[in-house]
Amino acid sequence: MEAAQADTVIAPSLLAADFARLAEAASSVAGAVDWLHVDVMDNHFVPNLTIGPPVVKSLKAATDVPLDCHLMIEDPERWAVGYAELGAHNVTFHAEASADPVTLAKRLRAAGSGAGLAIDRDTPVEDYLDILPEFDTLLIMTIKAGFGGQEFLPELLDKVRTARRRAETGHLHLRIEVDGGIAEDTIGAAAEAGADAFVAGTAVFGASDPAAACRRLRERAAASR
Ligand code: DX5
Ligand code: ZN
Repeated sequence: MEAAQADTVIAPSLLAADFARLAEAASSVAGAVDWLHVDVMDNHFVPNLTIGPPVVKSLKAATDVPLDCHLMIEDPERWAVGYAELGAHNVTFHAEASADPVTLAKRLRAAGSGAGLAIDRDTPVEDYLDILPEFDTLLIMTIKAGFGGQEFLPELLDKVRTARRRAETGHLHLRIEVDGGIAEDTIGAAAEAGADAFVAGTAVFGASDPAAACRRLRERAAASR
């Protein structure tokens, strides 16, 4: 599946997979998904610690599915480009953690990946609307970043609506990605609000058939857009 042309991007989060079997998790959904979402956490920006460059490097070698790296880390200026150099399709860093998001976006694109800006639960999107042309994706958290399995916060979809309006009026080639609590009963509202890329951890890897779960999510999203 060619991610750049997909109307709806489904990106299962490996955070909900068995970390001792990440390659198997990747192959269990390959063919049913557009990207694999890789949650990088440093125990500082969020109180959780996950994976870093060595694991991303191994994943890159283990799967052809494009890697969507979501960096929940401090000092992305220091680390983010390394993920692009490892071959990540898209590298998303948090607005709250970056001193100069525009310069970092340009560096990511120069290193060969897409550039993504993430907005956590308590951050208004309005402050970042003017820099959206520098980005390929805008990731709007629909929970507080840090852990999987949290309850979807529908009020955060107002940010998706605001960003979608700006993308339309500005004719931007921008994917609007939602992350957190996305499941069969919530993906429709997110799609209706204007999201076109959907991260789902628990709803995919908590299901008995992860690929079938991804197909159901895609159908629900497509029906609501
Ligand atoms: C949390 C991560 C999410 C997480 C989503 O900070 O960014 O990607 O894996 O997990 P679910 O789908 O279970 O909410
Ligand atoms: Zn994520």
